[in-house]
Amino acid sequence: MKFFIKSYGCQMNLYDSQRIEDLLLSYNHEKVNSPEQANLLIFNTCSIREKADEKLFSDLGRAKLLKNQNKGKEFVIAVMGCVAQSRCEDIKSKHPYVDIILGPQEVQNMQECIMKVLNNQITTTLALTDFKSKNKFEVFNKNEIRDRLVSEYLTIQEGCDNFCTYCVVPYTRGREFSRSVQEIIVEAKNLVSRGCKEITLLGQNVNSYNGVGDDGMPRRLSILLEELASISGLSRLRYTTSHPKDIDENIGKAHRDIPILMPFLHLPVQSGSNEILRRMNRKYDREKYFDVIDMLRSYRPDIAFSSDFIVGFPGETENDFEDTLDLIKRVGYSQAYSFKYSPRPHTPAAKMDSQVEESVKSSRLRILQDLLNFQQRDFNKMFIGKMAQVLFVKEGRDSGQLSGRDEYFQAVSVMADKSQIGSVVEVKIVDAASHSLIGELK
Ligand code: SAH
Ligand code: SF4
Ligand code: F3S
Repeated sequence: MKFFIKSYGCQMNLYDSQRIEDLLLSYNHEKVNSPEQANLLIFNTCSIREKADEKLFSDLGRAKLLKNQNKGKEFVIAVMGCVAQSRCEDIKSKHPYVDIILGPQEVQNMQECIMKVLNNQITTTLALTDFKSKNKFEVFNKNEIRDRLVSEYLTIQEGCDNFCTYCVVPYTRGREFSRSVQEIIVEAKNLVSRGCKEITLLGQNVNSYNGVGDDGMPRRLSILLEELASISGLSRLRYTTSHPKDIDENIGKAHRDIPILMPFLHLPVQSGSNEILRRMNRKYDREKYFDVIDMLRSYRPDIAFSSDFIVGFPGETENDFEDTLDLIKRVGYSQAYSFKYSPRPHTPAAKMDSQVEESVKSSRLRILQDLLNFQQRDFNKMFIGKMAQVLFVKEGRDSGQLSGRDEYFQAVSVMADKSQIGSVVEVKIVDAASHSLIGELK
């Protein structure tokens, strides 16, 4: 079939979409670049906030029209990922023209499901929403890795056991599970042999990685990083997301000792108020967060931090919000993501009293984002006139321009020849906007 995959949400979804693409190509399906050219439409969905859910449902409307235009011909619609898991019944009852629904740990069954639909073996929507993460990687491992870019993701861990009270992920991706060191090394070597130079390890909470080594004993993230760093041809390593409660000194030492481990860490704090952190079930307080930041800076003084913030969590007072602003000022972030709290199905926070009014959420978000933008602009400005090591990843927006990232994950645009894609090049930073830098070759 001619397939088109649309991915929403986090990098873990992008990774799954790539592996599904590899799988479908191995069964001789053909990838196309628009839904209009396709007769197999796949939506890989995200449920993290209400707006993310809504995106799927508006896209489904368009998918239904395309299916109607192709009446009498083979035409399959599949929904996979986190909304498939969390709203399976809704999709089945309100969108019966959807043929296949696969939760994040069932996506490996895509080909079998497509065959069942094509062979008319089913009369209603085919839905699989069990949690079998081991199984998923067994299937993925058998597939050849195809087209890959200079910078790629590698999932090392699935699911989440933390149950932050606002978050839907433990209900959509299931229990935490780490892939083995061996499996990850094999995949990383494959990526490098396809021209990949930078690998970002993925998991919802990679600092609790505990995959087994050759002797069957669990290994920590810092050990995994060390092993990956010895792969020849790999220029850079990153990992995300880290949970502040699980960061230990070994990670600080890894940032000191592993040259290809980049000095940038996404360390979501969510709130700067101890009371809100407690009600979020984050299992750390602001003092602990400051300690973690100090520890990491003691091993790698130039390390840059980014974070996620939620404003308007139930019961958040003006004082709680002030605590968050204060924390931001004390830490100093190089970038950040921030969101209005969005009640999610199944989660305890959705049922908490004292939900914050939408208008209050909006005004707090604006204040918070102004502060974060200001910090990011300041951070970027510091680099003007300095040299930066940039990994060129792809062609830039303007012709003749390449776009890449420096060690601190800042986007950098430089006029340079295409042949430099994949190289780490020293460039001089000549200008800085709030979200990117401009560099020049020496
Ligand atoms: N595992 C990561 C992030 C998971 S989701 C962690 O623990 O940090 C990415 C971000 O979405 C979260 O960090 C949080 O800031 C945001 N988020 C999650 N649930 C949310 C909700 N119900 N409303 C608003 N933002 C939410
Ligand atoms: Fe969600 Fe918390 Fe798990 Fe992150 S750690 S995925 S925020 S439950
Ligand atoms: Fe979204 Fe699921 Fe990722 S809810 S953020 S796609 S884990």
